[in-house]
Amino acid sequence: MLKDGHGRQVDYLRVSVTDRCDLRCFYCLPKGFKGFCGHEERLSPEEIGRLVEAFAELGVSRVRLTGGEPLVRTDIVEVCEAVANIPGIEDLSLSTNGIRLGKLAGALKKAGVDRLNVSLDSLRAERFAEITGGGNLQSVLDGVSAAIDAGLTPMKVNAVVMKGINDDEVEAMASYCDAHGITLRFIETMPMGQTGQDAADRFVDLREVRERLEATYELIPDVFPGGGPARYVRISGTDTRIGFITPLSQHFCDTCNRVRVGSDGVLYTCLGNEHAVPLRPWLRDGTREGLIETIRDALARKPARHDFGGDTRVVRYMAQTGG
Ligand code: GTP
Ligand code: 5AD
Ligand code: SF4
Repeated sequence: MLKDGHGRQVDYLRVSVTDRCDLRCFYCLPKGFKGFCGHEERLSPEEIGRLVEAFAELGVSRVRLTGGEPLVRTDIVEVCEAVANIPGIEDLSLSTNGIRLGKLAGALKKAGVDRLNVSLDSLRAERFAEITGGGNLQSVLDGVSAAIDAGLTPMKVNAVVMKGINDDEVEAMASYCDAHGITLRFIETMPMGQTGQDAADRFVDLREVRERLEATYELIPDVFPGGGPARYVRISGTDTRIGFITPLSQHFCDTCNRVRVGSDGVLYTCLGNEHAVPLRPWLRDGTREGLIETIRDALARKPARHDFGGDTRVVRYMAQTGG
């Protein structure tokens, strides 16, 4: 069992397989961003496999592949296969913007991916394009349907709620997800990197969103297995769940069960903190024992909670560690 220095059990690893993305959500990546990780620095499918093997040996049973956008990697199916076949990994999921899902859903399922979370901040085509820097809404909606048909379920949709941008769509999002058997999660904007800082004045406290939804739906507190940070309710009379991810208004750091690795093999022990330990040297040239020791040592120094709203700014972008 892998425990951090605060006694929390870590059994969930998020691996960003690329920091590149085919969209430019304004709160995430700046237009014209050039600081991407080089091809040489990026972990190969074999290195990702070695990384996950080490974490599995330490007690991690759930892995989520993130980006940037994981599906822009041309070898993404190979990466999924490398992870899915590792003994001890019981849950393999992927967070995606959905643009390329229509083509890839079947292959991902076959490669061993269990389930997907899809980012979708608006159901209005023009607005979606504005938020994402030109994204095509219909591709995402088609991708979501293809993924459900392929059995990549339970499917979750993630919506970052932003004042004056999409906060008038919370009921419409709930209705869409209810109709398609999708779990909907609302997310509070996090001030990561300059884009995240710039979007901070769009922040919406999700308690307001919940109160607003209660005017339309009867919401019953609920649980959802999976181990993520969302707090859930269920729409009465349905199986539809709505989750609230509230790092700022009600942080969930006391029960944090996860760490993340960037596409260049750097281990980040907290999303909202700059504590970072490079693992790539161990994956390329080091011993397995050295790798395991380095991970244990880093975990012992995992921060108690994030710094969002505190004195220290998190300067790296969300795309570098995949949320
Ligand atoms: P499930 O296993 O399906 O519950 O996934 P998840 O909610 O952990 O993953 P997903 O990639 O869908 O993330 C949804 C949102 O939660 C994103 O905005 C993430 O940045 C945020 N998130 C995930 N883990 C953490 C965390 O440890 N801390 C903070 N502050 N936010 C997180
Ligand atoms: N604040 C909150 N969520 C963010 N995401 C990207 N940037 C931010 C931010 N600054 C979300 C994406 C995606 C998830 C992995 O992280 O919308 O759903
Ligand atoms: Fe790409 Fe996701 Fe960032 Fe949007 S939030 S720009 S889809 S990595």
